[in-house]
Amino acid sequence: PGGTDHQAENATLSQAAVLSNHAGYTGTGFVDYTNVVGGYIEWTVTVTAAGSRPGTFRYANGTTAGRPLSIAVNGVTVTSGLAFNSTGSWSTWTDQTINVPLQAGANTIRATATTATGGPNMDKLTL
Ligand code: GCU
Ligand code: CA
Repeated sequence: PGGTDHQAENATLSQAAVLSNHAGYTGTGFVDYTNVVGGYIEWTVTVTAAGSRPGTFRYANGTTAGRPLSIAVNGVTVTSGLAFNSTGSWSTWTDQTINVPLQAGANTIRATATTATGGPNMDKLTL
């Protein structure tokens, strides 16, 4: 456990918008990816010590199909297909965690939609 919350609505967005029309988000809203390939959320996270640590994405996916995202850290793809499977409804939020290799100082973490349905609705990244 632990880590710092980085709200998706405060990140840099492309082909994605801040919404609040489904309950259960933290902060002031969540990010709704446009239903296209290539939309992204990019967080900037600053840490004092380099090293890998778990990063947890909190998301909702009210469809029955997966909404995989490609995850890049400082421009380097960490995984090209992190699964964001159905959560059953758009107001049911769950966690997906991966190991994130960070450098000391500022880091970018970009989560890019890889299918024509876009990404899941994203609440925050904790790490
Ligand atoms: C619905 C839902 C959105 C979601 C979208 C989607 O419109 O209300 O929150 O992002 O479906 O399929 O991506
Ligand atoms: Ca969407």
